[in-house]
Amino acid sequence: MGSTKTSLILCFLGFLFLDSLLFCSAYNVHHYSFLLRETNFTRLCTTKSMFTVNGQWPGPTIHVRKGDKAFVNVHNNGDYGVTIHWHGVKQPKNPWSDGPENITQCPIKPGKNFTYEVIFSDEEGTLWWHAHSDWSRATIHGAIVILPEIGKTYPFPKPYAEQVLILAEWFNGDVKELIDEATSTGGDPTPSNAYALNGQPGFPNNCSNETSFRFPVQYGKTYLLRLVNAGMNEEMFFGIAKHNITVVAQDAAYIKPITTSYIMITPGQTMDILVTANQAPSYYYMAASPFFDSSAPYDTTNTSAILQYTGTYTIPTTIPYPTLPNVTDKAAADNFTTRIRSLASAEHPVYVPKNVTTRIFITVSVNQIVCANASCGGPSGNRLSASLNNISFVTPSTDVLQAYYKSLPNVFDKDFPNLPPYKFNFTGDVGNNTLYPSLGTKARLINYGDVVEIVYQGTNVGNAENHPMHLHGFSFFLVGTGYGNFGLTNSTKTYNLIDPPEVNTIGVPKNGWAAIRFVANNPGVWFMHCHLERHASWGMDTVLIVKNGPTEETSIRPPPANLPICS
Ligand code: C2O
Ligand code: CU
Repeated sequence: MGSTKTSLILCFLGFLFLDSLLFCSAYNVHHYSFLLRETNFTRLCTTKSMFTVNGQWPGPTIHVRKGDKAFVNVHNNGDYGVTIHWHGVKQPKNPWSDGPENITQCPIKPGKNFTYEVIFSDEEGTLWWHAHSDWSRATIHGAIVILPEIGKTYPFPKPYAEQVLILAEWFNGDVKELIDEATSTGGDPTPSNAYALNGQPGFPNNCSNETSFRFPVQYGKTYLLRLVNAGMNEEMFFGIAKHNITVVAQDAAYIKPITTSYIMITPGQTMDILVTANQAPSYYYMAASPFFDSSAPYDTTNTSAILQYTGTYTIPTTIPYPTLPNVTDKAAADNFTTRIRSLASAEHPVYVPKNVTTRIFITVSVNQIVCANASCGGPSGNRLSASLNNISFVTPSTDVLQAYYKSLPNVFDKDFPNLPPYKFNFTGDVGNNTLYPSLGTKARLINYGDVVEIVYQGTNVGNAENHPMHLHGFSFFLVGTGYGNFGLTNSTKTYNLIDPPEVNTIGVPKNGWAAIRFVANNPGVWFMHCHLERHASWGMDTVLIVKNGPTEETSIRPPPANLPICS
């Protein structure tokens, strides 16, 4: 179950007119083995069996350097099929190892295995991996730490030590039963019973004080926390009592340092955070609480871990707890997120695409589907649903990638639209005819090299909420966000085209919009969806297919030999 590493020196010989260039780059190849199996865990005084990697929750951390490669052999000893996704890893030309079930592969069945080839390129910082089949990611997830290349350093003083910190959700019940139940009734799934930091709910949760995750620190030293929100359904605030924190990276790209008392992190996002142990040696809680502004049910608890100074001192009877914003405090969330800027500067400009060739405007809605005799468990006896451009995504039974690559008919349609079917006051009085989506497996084809702008428009349909939209295969520039309806002339004036953050998951504000840009330079089949699992399961998903460019270097690689069989 350990990992091994070998080094490769790759040299490229290129001819540029009469000059020849020889350049070598060294990268390491890492090997991991993941054994998926049921394991007993006890939290909140409740014991249950859950699906894990190597019996761990959170699962093992993958350690690489920028530009490395990892082969991960996944052997499934569980009771049902599963796939693994490497969240935020671009996988150039290699959608075959991206992972979303029935989008780029069929599941690895019980008793079978599959080796993922995870290709790192320009990512540096923290990412994560997680199961991408139903809700199994609740227990099957872990961090990916990407260090700078050998000989390179962080764009901030080297921290004394580093610590991965994974925010997740604990359900007393079996997660698969819970989502199967919600799917059959059409109602809201039961929220989790606690959040957890590195697998422990901590104070003030039932039966959790003694087992809190503890992070030992030495007075005067600075530490790097690699925070992952692996939670299922809630965006979270996070802070450390009496300590300021400084965010230096998001989604494996560095940002201009932001010093703050709290952050807001959506499911799917990762943040690298510096904290200096500069307070009186003692115990301090680090805690996370939900940021949730909707009438849907959610987990209302908080989770904590302990920042524990080394040395001798009297342990406080009351450990200081951070003050975090109120659950619906969107001003607090915005105050943090609007400060996020990439490292780009006048001296080190970053190319932000200016001449958009492909514009896609996507409404993001929570919907309902009518059930005969109001027999479902959602509002008015309807079934809860969700959509992009009013199309609720239906997962096919053969993967879209295979169907696209081999031109198999009847798996998906290529007509995901550039606009919603009709215009309405998206964030106002939306009327009733917007409530019901159409169903389909629709993808949007994009030419290689297109400069794409996607505007996600949140709507007031059904249940207005924040939506952390995530795209596989890319990092994109978040060029703008705002409240209300996006307007091509007014909203674009507010864009940041100088130093927008380059991320893979973006929180579209409730009844607001977010605009992203990227160059379609990664041929493949790339899933795009809300990273709230409730919404993704209800159909808030679609697929972007970036076609091959003119050369082999700009085309999807051939498939690996041992892809799981669909049936
Ligand atoms: Cu975190 Cu589709 O992914
Ligand atoms: Cu959503």
